[in-house]
Amino acid sequence: MNKAEIRILITEDSAIQAEKLRRVLAFAGYSVVVAKNGVEGLLKARELKPQLVVSDINMPGMNGFELCRHIKSDTNISATPVILLTSLSDPTDVISGLECGADNFIVKPYDEGHLLARIKHILLNRELPENLQTQLGVEIHFAGQRYFITAEKKQILDFLISTYENAVQKNTELVKVQEKLELLNEELEQKVERRTVDLTKEIGVRKQLEEKLREYALTLEEKVRDRTKELEDAKNLADAATQAKSDFLANMSHELRTPLNSIIGFSEVLQDEMIGPLNPSQLEDVQYILTAGRHLLSLINDILDLSKVESGKMELELGWFSLQELIEASVVMQREKAMKHGIVLSLAIQPEVDIEMEADVRKLKQIMFNLLSNAVKFTPDGGAVSLVVRKLIETGEIEISVSDTGIGIKNEDLPRLFSAFTQLQMAYTKEYEGTGLGLALTKRLVELHGGRIWVESEFGKGSKFAFAIPFRQWPSDERS
Ligand SMILES: Nc1ncnc2c1ncn2[C@@H]1O[C@H](COP(=O)(O)OP(=O)(O)OP(=O)(O)O)[C@@H](O)[C@H]1O
Ligand SMILES: [Mg+2]
Repeated sequence: MNKAEIRILITEDSAIQAEKLRRVLAFAGYSVVVAKNGVEGLLKARELKPQLVVSDINMPGMNGFELCRHIKSDTNISATPVILLTSLSDPTDVISGLECGADNFIVKPYDEGHLLARIKHILLNRELPENLQTQLGVEIHFAGQRYFITAEKKQILDFLISTYENAVQKNTELVKVQEKLELLNEELEQKVERRTVDLTKEIGVRKQLEEKLREYALTLEEKVRDRTKELEDAKNLADAATQAKSDFLANMSHELRTPLNSIIGFSEVLQDEMIGPLNPSQLEDVQYILTAGRHLLSLINDILDLSKVESGKMELELGWFSLQELIEASVVMQREKAMKHGIVLSLAIQPEVDIEMEADVRKLKQIMFNLLSNAVKFTPDGGAVSLVVRKLIETGEIEISVSDTGIGIKNEDLPRLFSAFTQLQMAYTKEYEGTGLGLALTKRLVELHGGRIWVESEFGKGSKFAFAIPFRQWPSDERS
């Protein structure tokens, strides 16, 4: 029979599967008819009498087994071989296939060559001699079910062989997969081996590093210990040196003050002409001696104070006093000099500041004297110096500020203003006298009171020095 005369009926509810199968068969040269389900398949089988039926098993309505049973029980078409497509997920499929008289099984997904070879084989053996057919059925039990199989011996054999073939095919596939797995496994083992070697190396390197790190930490600790010791020694030396310096200064100051007081005292006696009259030129010279002596004394006092503060030996001598009186007294001390230079000296005291407060009066006077004398000293003739005293309620401090319309200070000079022996103009001229100790001492005295000092200045325009110290007020005159 010519291939084109061989008609194959495909029964498949999935349109895609049906089309795929149709193409394979049509390409192989067969004429193909497609039915969408069991019922349609049966109708077409009866009508067209195909040479072969290939049917899916799971279909809505009439499934593949039922379709096969109907075909095999219709004497007009019962000789038509039926191939069932199965995914073989259920072993009872085989029994059910035998029971319904199917001729062959093909496992999905199928290999096209394998499928075509199977079809060819079935078509060749299609014509069965009548005498081989048996009408007797066999009853078998499988998985708790009873099945009655009436298919012919040859058909059963074919069917079982096809099942076996499927199994063989699956096995071949399995063997291939296993070979692949073995290969992969080998590769994996090699990888693991390589990785193990790498890791072992890495661990070795890491261990070495750790060892080095430990050694380094040890030497570092030693170094830190040595360095700490050196620093401690250096600090002790420095402390001893500072102590020696302070002692030296204190002694020297004392030793200098005694003869200096004699010089000043006897100069005063001479100046007052208690011993006898002096001629004008002698008087002038005595006054020079007196002025120089007093200047030297104040210098020595400053140095002594500074070294005392620095060695921590300066202590506050607290006492109660009227703040207003102290401020007025400080202003009076500068009034004469200010007047001489035509400088207006003004004072603004908040009424709340008229209090009795506790502090070290002598030191507070010293602070006021230094700030006011600087303001007057560094303000050209005809300028103004103003003193403002106010209470800072929020911080509990008294703030005293001295502003002037003087020469001002350059921004870059501000940071070293409060260091000892700093005089900003010294480099150019020596037109202002002093030693540059005033502000250094002032800052330390303010800090000794637990206060702070700051400055705002504009070069050529004027400066404002201000300090604030916490105040303790005499309880009786507390005002709102
Ligand atoms: N009100 C001011 N206006 C401008 N410059 C100032 C003012 N007060 C201080 N200075 C600058 O700061 C420097 C340091 O002041 P400080 O009071 O410490 O020293 P001094 O007045 O020169 O000397 P001393 O106070 O020891 O007699 C001054 O030499 C001056 O250059
Ligand atoms: Mg000064």
